[in-house]
Amino acid sequence: MAKPPLIEAFERAGQGHVFAFFEQLTPADQQQLLSDAAEIDLGEIAHLTQTLLAKGAVTGLNLDGLAPAPYELRPEKGGDVKAWGAAKTAGEVALRAGRVAAFTVAGGQGTRLGYDGPKGTFPVTPIKQKTLFQVFAEKIRAAGARYGKPLHWFIMTSNANHAATEAFFIEHAFFGLEKARVHFFRQGRMPAVDLDGKILLETKGTLAMSPDGHGGSLRALDRSGALDLMDKEGIDILSYFQVDNPLVRGIDPAFIGWHVLRGSEMSSKMVAKAYAGEKVGHFCTQNGQAVVIEYSDLPKSYQEEIDPVMGGLRYLAGSIAIHVFDTKFIRRMAKGGAGVALPFHRADKKIPTIDAAGNVVKPDKPNGVKFEMFVFDALPFAKNPVIIETRREDDFSPVKNAEGLDSPVTCRDDQLRQFTRWLKAGGAVVPTDATGLPPFAVEVSPLFGYDEDSFADAWKRLSPKPEIKAGLYLAV
Ligand code: UD1
Repeated sequence: MAKPPLIEAFERAGQGHVFAFFEQLTPADQQQLLSDAAEIDLGEIAHLTQTLLAKGAVTGLNLDGLAPAPYELRPEKGGDVKAWGAAKTAGEVALRAGRVAAFTVAGGQGTRLGYDGPKGTFPVTPIKQKTLFQVFAEKIRAAGARYGKPLHWFIMTSNANHAATEAFFIEHAFFGLEKARVHFFRQGRMPAVDLDGKILLETKGTLAMSPDGHGGSLRALDRSGALDLMDKEGIDILSYFQVDNPLVRGIDPAFIGWHVLRGSEMSSKMVAKAYAGEKVGHFCTQNGQAVVIEYSDLPKSYQEEIDPVMGGLRYLAGSIAIHVFDTKFIRRMAKGGAGVALPFHRADKKIPTIDAAGNVVKPDKPNGVKFEMFVFDALPFAKNPVIIETRREDDFSPVKNAEGLDSPVTCRDDQLRQFTRWLKAGGAVVPTDATGLPPFAVEVSPLFGYDEDSFADAWKRLSPKPEIKAGLYLAV
């Protein structure tokens, strides 16, 4: 039988070992291996080997000319009150016109949380134990109702969690959303390679493939047809957020409005870092472009530097992974072309594999490299990027770790503080400690109020007002 052309291509690229055990596989497994291999762009792997793995490859970050990025201060911090007002109005107009869709990246593996299953199925709310997906779904539903235009919601999954994610939505009847407006698509995968750039086999018939990072979302949006659908529906603004953060105002009119009024192709929210070493990306500028430098890449001396004029941290602006994209920009980034592509980052990992004789290898130190793209690396390619400040308590309390910082407990407490703030702003009396935490659990359904404004409106209309006590659940 003639050798499949794909195998020949791998041989020509010096990756023929991928098929070393091909003859030993069942026909079905052979097909599976061929189909996995077909996902690989051999030119891309060769390029990454040269640029990121070769001896002498410059992998360190160039910090020349790095400076903190400018951003729009919140009004209460001295920001331009009129501009914020105009932004909110412009965002509301865009929402009423149906120009906006929500986008959640949910392809990660949730390893740090130690939770088995798609992270979006993790329960987070204080009383009802609603899952992350339910919280987002209800916020999106409520925003659609508020602006008189039901929103589309795009959810990026990975091979590992796609089926379970879809099944979860079906099981829960899409949390009341119209099924036709919820769109799942898988992100791409990249093969892991050894330190010489040879693609690693996981078993004789499978490759060591892993998700290509949330930056892969840009090409996945294109490849999956999501961008075409958006074009058809008149959507040109995509509101991006991570699956781990239930506090996020995924549909924030002021943020959308800043993006629209500035003619921005990509906009981002920042919070003031809580402390110098907080594990967030840092908004910076370099050569006149906005960039995000990850905490793991920015030297400690920069992270801790004090601003000589203003006092306080010089690199203060932390990225909380909330962005708004222009859909034409996403398409341009996805198509790539001369100098327009997200870079890959190299992560050295312990990757279970097999050796040339087919024996299982369980490494105790990094034996290979995974390649990932980060979505914030699109920022330097964007025209007129705008970064706006947000209050951490309004937008950011992720669930990342099983315990300690950014855990289910801190996230639950931050939700309680938020519900309490909203109630107090409406005139209710709620006892709290000095951090704003009530001594008992209350919960607000996003369908009742999903942000300060929508809560205030619903609370005003509510008559009689309920007694504020343990277990209070405000819903419609
Ligand atoms: C991320 C950001 C960091 C930011 C912080 C805020 C990176 C490298 N860092 O850190 O700048 O300050 O969030 O919370 O992103 N995901 C995919 N596919 C993948 C990988 C991740 O969809 O291949 C999704 C995850 O499901 C999750 C999000 O991306 O929704 C973040 O991934 P994670 O790896 O947890 O990022 P962090 O290291 O926490």
